[in-house]
Amino acid sequence: MIGKMISRKWNGVVGCALGRRYLMQKRVAGFHASMSSDVDGQSTFEDHVRLTKSTFVRTSHFGRGSYLGQGSKVKDATIGRFSSIGPDVIIGGLGRHPTNYLSTNPAFYSTLGQTGLVYLEESSDFHESLQTTIGNDVWIGARVLVLDGVTIHDGAVIAAGAVVVKDVPPYAVMGGVPAKLIKKRFSEETIKTLVALKWWQREDSVLKQVARRLGDRQFEERDLAELSEILSREEAEMR
Ligand SMILES: CC(C)(COP(=O)(O)OP(=O)(O)OC[C@H]1O[C@@H](n2cnc3c(N)ncnc32)[C@H](O)[C@@H]1OP(=O)(O)O)[C@@H](O)C(=O)NCCC(=O)NCCS
Repeated sequence: MIGKMISRKWNGVVGCALGRRYLMQKRVAGFHASMSSDVDGQSTFEDHVRLTKSTFVRTSHFGRGSYLGQGSKVKDATIGRFSSIGPDVIIGGLGRHPTNYLSTNPAFYSTLGQTGLVYLEESSDFHESLQTTIGNDVWIGARVLVLDGVTIHDGAVIAAGAVVVKDVPPYAVMGGVPAKLIKKRFSEETIKTLVALKWWQREDSVLKQVARRLGDRQFEERDLAELSEILSREEAEMR
């Protein structure tokens, strides 16, 4: 009897997840989620997102062309476009406890009843979870931990094994525990221009041209002019 009940519940959960995955793969062009991924119905995806083996996604959004490496978990987060997330990464959803209240145990400041003990009638002002934001064209290396509430801006790189506790500026390479600036990918002027150009918002036909002209070699300061030119020419043609 108990075995049957467990089996029915298990089939329900798995059936639901499989159905959801099937529907998303039908509805969203190029969306692919591994059979062993676990995604809730509240998460949203643009086209060509890949969720590889044993990934876990809750209440999050992924922009086009972004992927999640094996064993990675994302919760309460927004991931921009063309971002690459390595294996065994954790982004958001860890939960927070106050370090400057009498106790760090939720029984003393929350009414969520995590242990069944609730000492307050109303929760305190403390936010136990915060939204985490990953920009566009961000690369996050293996085994990185991104704490709740952090924003990693466009073009940043997070070195393998880092723990990101603070916001990361655009096009910064950060690493270590806690993550610190290793270097910037480009000069400040170039970074400003790239952030303003927002190439990741362009159509595939434009990005194909960008990739063919500039994608397969070191990006130099002088390439900015060509990038701007391709983007504005395409914009003019579309009008
Ligand atoms: C950060 C990284 C991208 C290297 O970038 P790079 O531009 O080639 O930089 P370099 O190798 O020249 O290293 C620059 C500095 O960062 C340091 N560094 C490199 N990797 C680091 C890491 N994981 N943590 C801390 N510091 C690191 C180097 O020691 C070097 O320090 P130094 O200037 O004092 O000598 C790379 O080391 C990394 O972590 N890649 C992630 C790989 C991965 O996880 N892939 C998963 C598949 S998506």
